[in-house]
Amino acid sequence: MEIKKVGVAGCGLMGHGIAQVSAEAGYEVVVTELNQENLDKGIAKIEKQLGRAVEKGKLEQSEADAIRGRINPTLHPHEFAECDLVIEAITEDLEMKLDFWKQVDEVAKPEAFFATNTSSLPVINQAAATSRPDRFLGLHFFNPVQRMPLLEVIQSVTTSPEAMAVGMAYGEKLNKTTVETRDKAGFIVNRLLVPYMLDGIRGLEEGIGSIEEIDTAMKAGAGHPMGPLALSDFVGLDTLASIGNVMFDEFRERRFAAPPTLRKLVAAGFYGVKSGRGFYDYSGEKPVPVNPGL
Ligand code: 3HC
Repeated sequence: MEIKKVGVAGCGLMGHGIAQVSAEAGYEVVVTELNQENLDKGIAKIEKQLGRAVEKGKLEQSEADAIRGRINPTLHPHEFAECDLVIEAITEDLEMKLDFWKQVDEVAKPEAFFATNTSSLPVINQAAATSRPDRFLGLHFFNPVQRMPLLEVIQSVTTSPEAMAVGMAYGEKLNKTTVETRDKAGFIVNRLLVPYMLDGIRGLEEGIGSIEEIDTAMKAGAGHPMGPLALSDFVGLDTLASIGNVMFDEFRERRFAAPPTLRKLVAAGFYGVKSGRGFYDYSGEKPVPVNPGL
């Protein structure tokens, strides 16, 4: 089945990016949020990025207008009725996701495919709660979606070969590097990347270096674009803690457990870049490391 219209639930950090790259690839896009403020914020980010691409000469104004024109922002999930593929990028909370799918399952056409952009929750738990577990798969994007080339295409025990083929074709149309993976918490990238970020925090707790020293060392010594603490802030400390918790529940291994410093920062509402403070303070021109008071 050819996908023409894509629904994206959530216009936050990941959702706005998924909506943008889908529209850039030529899909008609319906994007929803829980409230107007969040929707406006997400759409403003897309418009800003399109504007910047025009300024840099990477996009004609007419192309940017056409991309924006393909995106229909709405607060009403019933607008997913005509979508061929619906991707959820809402809060990483299973109950919220199950509520969402219940609503969408009732309005979406029977032949539509569903996908979750979950970072770590098992795909099968969501798939099994819908009337179409065979047409349900995982599509895991990376932040920033516009920039990171990878799309993990995840097969749960119920996902049909047809649904996998749809996921792979969608990723290829987005010009992403697609990798098929199985429904195991963290899939490939987070299985390896999350313990690494958590170990960066443990290293800070154990005094191997300061925030800046740890980040500088990993950039200069291992060629990473960001050090583990800057990357944790970038991913979102609340998101990182919640992925770690899911993986710890699944595997019962210390390497996935959220270290105390991470739990304290999350409790304080210091979520990283998105809240203006995490391991760094983002209120000035340049991020400044803030001692988390170990
Ligand atoms: N949103 C959209 N586009 C962005 C962006 C953002 N937040 N940040 C940067 N970009 C774009 C810029 O517009 C620019 O585009 P252009 O080349 O077309 O002009 C390009 O990226 C490069 O921007 P900069 O020169 O400002 O930035 P850098 O070269 O320093 O790169 C970075 C920024 C791409 C974020 C780089 O530091 C990086 O790759 N960091 C690691 C990111 C990473 O590991 N992501 C995965 C996180 S894990 C995850 O997402 C899984 C989830 O489940 C948790």
